[in-house]
Amino acid sequence: MNETLATAVAIAREAGALLLSYYDRGIRLEYKGEADIVTEADRASEALIVKRLQAQFPEHAVVAEEGGGHSAESEYRWYVDPLDGTTNFAHGFPMFCVSMGLEKNGEMILGAVYDPLRDEMFTAAKQAGAELNGRPLRVSKVDRLEEALVGTGFPSNKRHKNANIHFYHQISLRTHGVRRAGSAALDLAYVAAGRLDCFWEFNLHPWDLAAGALLVREAGGQVSDMAGRPHRLDAESIAATNGLLHGELQEAFEEIFAGRYRAGLPPVRRPA
Ligand code: IPD
Ligand code: CA
Ligand code: CA
Repeated sequence: MNETLATAVAIAREAGALLLSYYDRGIRLEYKGEADIVTEADRASEALIVKRLQAQFPEHAVVAEEGGGHSAESEYRWYVDPLDGTTNFAHGFPMFCVSMGLEKNGEMILGAVYDPLRDEMFTAAKQAGAELNGRPLRVSKVDRLEEALVGTGFPSNKRHKNANIHFYHQISLRTHGVRRAGSAALDLAYVAAGRLDCFWEFNLHPWDLAAGALLVREAGGQVSDMAGRPHRLDAESIAATNGLLHGELQEAFEEIFAGRYRAGLPPVRRPA
């Protein structure tokens, strides 16, 4: 394994172990905004990762979700989500991870997504493939949207401005189902691993996506925005698929953007 990736893996493992120590003893919540939770564990994990990165790569810039990163005149920049799936974590719902991605001159070159509960380390290096615990990863072979299992997510803040429920409903009608697991980085890792066939979401942040998007590409999948434009870390949306389903998913999104729904939401009725 590439030395820099091996270092990222060691740091992500250490951060994952730290998260587990908080998870096992229960944690205190704070709010960043309405329904937007942050915990001591997010901060402790971020402090550890940033400290380790600074020690190993003092010249690299670091962008980290809780604000602990630093800029630098460097072609290298890390994107760190010290705890992706905070709401799950805070409720004891077992779906969260550490996500670290490294960009060189604006291009993602390395990614590590670590799920400490399952001890699953998803890694990718540009043009060198993706792995899960050292075994090669490949996206699924499902080639009909109606046979696909799909993932999505909803933001914790400004949910009233997020129209994703329409997409959730419509894509649910056209597939085997839509999972909303609560960790975008793991959702993307699951597309890379063929456990999900597609994933989409609006308004994610670079630290949610940096590692996961590379994982999907290196596992043979395709990543763009929901309108089919090339993927960018600062884009308003992401669509990631096994490649075979990209066109069909894009067409479905087009119909939904245009308001052409398969069926409207059924009326709400109180049970008799
Ligand atoms: C969140 C998770 C979630 C996604 C949200 C993200 P956080 O990240 O990735 O799955 O739906 O949009 O903000 O806040 O738990 O790091
Ligand atoms: Ca996140
Ligand atoms: Ca986070």
